[in-house]
Amino acid sequence: METYIPKKFSKPEKMIPVVTAWAGLEEIIEDILDRFDIGRDACIEFGVEFGYSSVVFSNYFKQVTGVDVFIGDEHTDFKGDHFQDTKDRLSEYKNISLNKADYKDWIKKDETQYDFSHVDIVHNYAETFECGLWAAQHSTCTIFHDTESFPEVRRAVIDIAKVAGKNVYNYPHCNGLGIIV
Ligand SMILES: C[S@@+](CC[C@H](N)C(=O)[O-])C[C@H]1O[C@@H](n2cnc3c(N)ncnc32)[C@H](O)[C@@H]1O
Repeated sequence: METYIPKKFSKPEKMIPVVTAWAGLEEIIEDILDRFDIGRDACIEFGVEFGYSSVVFSNYFKQVTGVDVFIGDEHTDFKGDHFQDTKDRLSEYKNISLNKADYKDWIKKDETQYDFSHVDIVHNYAETFECGLWAAQHSTCTIFHDTESFPEVRRAVIDIAKVAGKNVYNYPHCNGLGIIV
């Protein structure tokens, strides 16, 4: 994967103070959108957890759709149902809609084409590949968190780009961010 080198780092205006392995990536999202000339209408995110990345995306898109089972997984811990807590935390961000669903069910019914998508679910190959291929086929640009900390995510990202016939980049900081465009 070609290394992604941002030209500029910019901190979004709206952010929330929750603990997350995603911290730091907010500074390169605008750079990615500008570099690849991505539209600013619709974004979908698989893997919301406490809402850190959703709020980052809400700075740049008219509408952000978040999909999560909101119970955690084998890599982030099973932490009990935190759907209502997350909804309450994000209630002031009117352009974010949160949906409690498994990505497997969501991708069966959603035929929308998005400008941008983010995949940050359980970090296994099979799930990342299935969800990520759908995302790459339903959006102009897809980003994947944890390409450095989870080799299975990295492998899935490389394979998705091949199948989708798109370019792939890797930003090797903040646990790694794969970019398919
Ligand atoms: C690493 S966390 C996401 C972190 C978040 N993006 C952030 O900014 O901090 C992974 C999330 O994926 C969710 N998840 C795992 N498997 C899922 C699945 N099959 N469908 C939907 N969500 C899933 C978990 O519930 C967990 O909240």
